[in-house]
Amino acid sequence: MQQTMIPLAESMRRLGTESAFVVLARARALEAEGRSIIHLEIGEPDFDTPEHVKEAGIASIRSNRTHYTPAAGIAELRDAIATYVTRTRGVDITRDNVVVSPGAKPTIAFTLMALLNPGDEVVIPDPAYPAYRSIVTYVNAVPVSVPLMESKQFRLDPAALEAAITPKTKILVLNSPHNPTGGILTNEDIFAIADIARKHDLVVISDEIYNRHCYDKPFASYFGLSANPDRTILVDGFSKAWAMTGWRLGFGVYPKHIADAVGALMLNTVSCTTTFVQDAGIAAITGDDKPVQAMRDEFRRRRKILVEGLCDIPNVSCQTPGGAFYVFPNVSKIESDDIKLATYLLEEGGVAVLGGSTFGPNGRGFIRLSYAASEENLREALKRMKNALARYSRS
Ligand SMILES: Cc1ncc(COP(=O)(O)O)c(C=O)c1O
Repeated sequence: MQQTMIPLAESMRRLGTESAFVVLARARALEAEGRSIIHLEIGEPDFDTPEHVKEAGIASIRSNRTHYTPAAGIAELRDAIATYVTRTRGVDITRDNVVVSPGAKPTIAFTLMALLNPGDEVVIPDPAYPAYRSIVTYVNAVPVSVPLMESKQFRLDPAALEAAITPKTKILVLNSPHNPTGGILTNEDIFAIADIARKHDLVVISDEIYNRHCYDKPFASYFGLSANPDRTILVDGFSKAWAMTGWRLGFGVYPKHIADAVGALMLNTVSCTTTFVQDAGIAAITGDDKPVQAMRDEFRRRRKILVEGLCDIPNVSCQTPGGAFYVFPNVSKIESDDIKLATYLLEEGGVAVLGGSTFGPNGRGFIRLSYAASEENLREALKRMKNALARYSRS
């Protein structure tokens, strides 16, 4: 009997993907064929999770902390997060405002699901982390792009933001330090954006997951400086600052009624975040901060190596980004089809990078490189790219 394929839900067509994971899979396939690939595609620190955090996780398992917790997270971690956010952002919050989740990514998804109705508009910078647009379209809401310009160091332009707002706009998503460009908002940018958000009564989701990766100036927090916690949601997590990507631990800070709604989504999907991972999170957020600072200092050193090396490649220009661990060089003089160029660099050059337009159409002509790689690998990648690009022909 011939069977037809089980049809998927219509909504699945609206779900996007993340090029970093797609390129990683292709790079791994090439490695399995014996090719040498340098990985500058994936956004995860190459450092180990700090010892005291690992020990706390192990001790937690040994003491049988292996059962369900409340959906929003254990009280001790939510208290520790509240203290951390109050200290680092200057906003008084309590555990009732905090929901712990398995990574910042579910925090983003559950927050958008909790707030959006079909047809609501969400202003998203372009380029941006792909999950924002993907979840907005998944729930049948409408993403509206605001271009981030290289000429403005990829900072959100308040005038361009204002032009994108309509009576249907409900949410503005901000991300500083920014993936994929490494751009950062200044205090002045934040004050101007906050004025616009107030004027149009927008909810702002401020994704501050790279807040510990600022290299030249102290971090400027939209959540803190906008001083409007009733209309502002903070997204943060442990993946980047404490090199804990695989542990899966993030959190959101909300007005209480939204925290309750996001808690209900947690309850109905994952039940809770892994118990011993939450215990490790307490050790991270309350423990010795030196490992986090040491990673940041090492990233700063690598940023310099990568930017200088890229600027030394003919027809490539690269700004020095203020934060995160990405550079976003302009390669349009070589090839405006950045995905084609990224594919060439992987297949012919042995360097995995991402096409800028996979983060939004305005990323066309740029590529993203992560400097979460050793100095040796960065130098080898630069050598390979220089050679491969010298051989590149546009045909
Ligand atoms: C801007 C941004 N937000 C959120 C995340 C999600 O991080 P995680 O789910 O590992 O906490 C990432 C990961 O790359 C990111 O770049």
